[in-house]
Amino acid sequence: MSLFDAFRYDGKRVLVVGGATGMGAAAAQIAVAAGAEVVVLDIAEITVPGVKGTHVDLRDTASIDAALEAVGGPVHAVLCCAGVADGDPGIEKVNFLGHRYLLEKLLAADALPRGSAIGFISSAAGLGWEKNLPALREYLAISDIDEASAWALEHNNATYMWSKQAVCAYVATQAMPLLTRGIRINAICPGPTDTPLARAHSETWLGFGAGYRAEVGIEAATPLEQGYPLVFLCSDAAAGISGITLITDAGHFAAGNTEVFPADTPAVRFLLGK
Ligand SMILES: NC(=O)c1ccc[n+]([C@@H]2O[C@H](COP(=O)([O-])OP(=O)(O)OC[C@H]3O[C@@H](n4cnc5c(N)ncnc54)[C@H](O)[C@@H]3O)[C@@H](O)[C@H]2O)c1
Repeated sequence: MSLFDAFRYDGKRVLVVGGATGMGAAAAQIAVAAGAEVVVLDIAEITVPGVKGTHVDLRDTASIDAALEAVGGPVHAVLCCAGVADGDPGIEKVNFLGHRYLLEKLLAADALPRGSAIGFISSAAGLGWEKNLPALREYLAISDIDEASAWALEHNNATYMWSKQAVCAYVATQAMPLLTRGIRINAICPGPTDTPLARAHSETWLGFGAGYRAEVGIEAATPLEQGYPLVFLCSDAAAGISGITLITDAGHFAAGNTEVFPADTPAVRFLLGK
């Protein structure tokens, strides 16, 4: 035993939702290396070495129910990583509502013991959530997944930005009630990261912040660079952290918001809701 063991996952079961590719797959690999038993759920084929894979479609509650049946319990960390882009049908379910449905089923089944943690991948695109809190609270109050989906469609909020703002607001509003059960919840908010999803929309996704990256001499983040903070936040080493949406963008928003990199100040302030 050493003090550093709090960063490890020996004896823990980790569920990675959306872990077939990209950041979820990277987080799954890190969790395996940290000693965890890892189960990955995804709509795509799961080829991550050392994990058990189960099919799920987050747009379909029957599929989520069946996947959770296969997963069983207990689960010590749930990494909510699945996501799609604007224009993909059911984006509100894939990016948030399906994850929430899955988490609430796990909670209802008492599958998350005290000391467990939930980690979402939100996005820098979700950081303006505080300004929209009244509308987000109205949305979060709709517990039924189909009714919430209908609300999002009716309000023109079946969008990437709204789905990520909903994740941030969910994390912030659930931290206290979950902690009464000994469970923590956090999210990372990545900047541009080189994954299949980003490459499929490379002009907008990987183009964002390109000037900042050229100026400081870095590339877009790797999936592993996002997986590490996500896995850390769900480890015992982060026991004092809950309710945060951690910006993992290599300083881009900090520089834009403070006018240290003025070229991106308008874009960054827009996304921050300022
Ligand atoms: N790549 C970026 O620049 C970037 C930046 C900020 C946030 N994000 C977020 O990071 C997360 C991970 O994305 P990524 O970039 O690693 O892309 P990715 O496409 O590699 O990973 C997303 C995963 O979600 C899965 N998925 C999609 N639809 C699903 C469904 N209906 N049911 C179950 N699984 C489904 C995909 O099969 C895939 O494995 C997403 O939530 C994304 O919004 C990405």
